Amino acid sequence: MSQCPYSSNPPPDGWHNAELNFSNSMSYGDYLDLERILNAQHPLSPDHNEMLFIIQHQTSELWMKLMLHELNAAREHVHQGQLQPAFKMLARVSRIFDQLVHAWAVLATMTPSEYKSIRPYLGHSSGFQSFQYREIEFILGNKSETLLRPHAHRPELLKELELAIATPSLYDEAIGLMAKAGLAIDPERLALNSKAPTQHDPSVEAAWREVYTDPSRYWDLYQLAEKFIDLEDSFRQWRFRHVTTVERIIGFQPGTGGTEGVGYLRKMLDTVLFPELWRVRSTL
Ligand code: HEM
Repeated sequence: MSQCPYSSNPPPDGWHNAELNFSNSMSYGDYLDLERILNAQHPLSPDHNEMLFIIQHQTSELWMKLMLHELNAAREHVHQGQLQPAFKMLARVSRIFDQLVHAWAVLATMTPSEYKSIRPYLGHSSGFQSFQYREIEFILGNKSETLLRPHAHRPELLKELELAIATPSLYDEAIGLMAKAGLAIDPERLALNSKAPTQHDPSVEAAWREVYTDPSRYWDLYQLAEKFIDLEDSFRQWRFRHVTTVERIIGFQPGTGGTEGVGYLRKMLDTVLFPELWRVRSTL
């Protein structure tokens, strides 16, 4: 019969070398700084369900932090023409999005009545002001100078976002790489360093068509294209699950951030990060 690990009897075999004294060495909690992380939940309402609301947002922000870590490194690798490590990083970002897509199911256990008890305590705070989310959008080419404004009161965050908007996107770097591989990209597109969202460019679509028509010749670019499609596919699913969860919780009421709510989020479903990669599929 197995022994209960919490009884005062000796632990079962296999435990006998476990370190049990951490008075002079780093423990699991020390390494992960759990003291701070687990004490960073401060519900403002008396409602039981606010903890779910807070933890869902905080965990999403932690995953976003990892996404940015990966995306920034992937962009640098693409810039250097080192695609193998970039593939690994982009695959990881897609899996993070997939995980966040599934995470909506936890928040969906919150009913409209439960949210109603919390909402008065939220003020104007909203995911709309997530600076990490904006940075992810910017690095993926969905840039908007207007959306810098909610961060104007935080100079250090504003600086980071301004840098992200002024830096060529991951996709811009990939287009540069296509040109280096001998594909004919319009020089104007190559010189473009826009603070606006990525616009469709016919020369880029033609270049992707060449890649998809002869994958073995352009195997790396072909693989990169599919990594981008994977990523945008997962991102779109995240947007869709967000707007559906929001609709089931607040219906068509305006958001705490001040937008029309579901109407705004539905418009965001039309965002296209890599326009030529989607368009080229109709011509193959
Ligand atoms: C009950 C839960 C939630 C509701 C009712 C909700 C509602 C909304 C609404 C209405 C907006 C539009 C902006 C506004 O007017 O506020 C928005 C934006 C946003 N929310 Fe949520 N949300 C919820 C949970 C979450 C969670 C868990 C995250 C994860 C971080 C999140 C991230 C975002 C982001 C990033 C935006 C900006 C989207 C964009 O500009 O494209 N939301 N949310």
